[in-house]
Amino acid sequence: KGDPRLQAISEAIRVIPDFPKQGIMFQDITTLLLNHKAFKDTVDIFVDRYRDMEISVVAGIEARGFMFGPSIALAIGAKFVPLRKPRKLPGDVISEAYVLEYGTDCLEMHVNAVQPGERAVVIDDLVATGGTLSAAIRLLERMGAEVVECACVIGLPEVKGHSRLNGKPLYILVEPR
Ligand code: PRP
Repeated sequence: KGDPRLQAISEAIRVIPDFPKQGIMFQDITTLLLNHKAFKDTVDIFVDRYRDMEISVVAGIEARGFMFGPSIALAIGAKFVPLRKPRKLPGDVISEAYVLEYGTDCLEMHVNAVQPGERAVVIDDLVATGGTLSAAIRLLERMGAEVVECACVIGLPEVKGHSRLNGKPLYILVEPR
């Protein structure tokens, strides 16, 4: 890519070994949020990419997709749609399960949040297996929205190499350190 901002974004992400359990190198984006330049550059890169793509929906995944999605939505003139863990949304919802290391989890979306034909991007902090993003894509497509791309700040090199997910493009800024 050669964007000089990416190095500083990568370095602003704190890596915590063995959190939340042994063997996991946790990618902590709270330190990125504390660094105004790196935080703004992160949002700006996504905004520059999506501003002229006629996107009307930015869907953010709980919890850390909520930390980037709304800023992007406001800047490109789109609405923000939260995709939440089960039993958090008060209205009528649709649900999609996804597989975790042990068991399954689920994402929910309000049924009236998007209209058929709307163009959407999905935002999260990190993609690992892609299971969470796949559930998000299914939710939006069930409501008739078109998922133009999924975007994450951090992506494992494996998934970055593919750069597609459920047939959808995947846009990643940095790899884990
Ligand atoms: C993390 C991360 C992504 C997801 C990626 O969230 O923020 O949402 O895992 O993993 P995947 O690509 O293997 O699906 P987590 O499940 O820890 O939930 P939280 O944000 O509520 O803590």
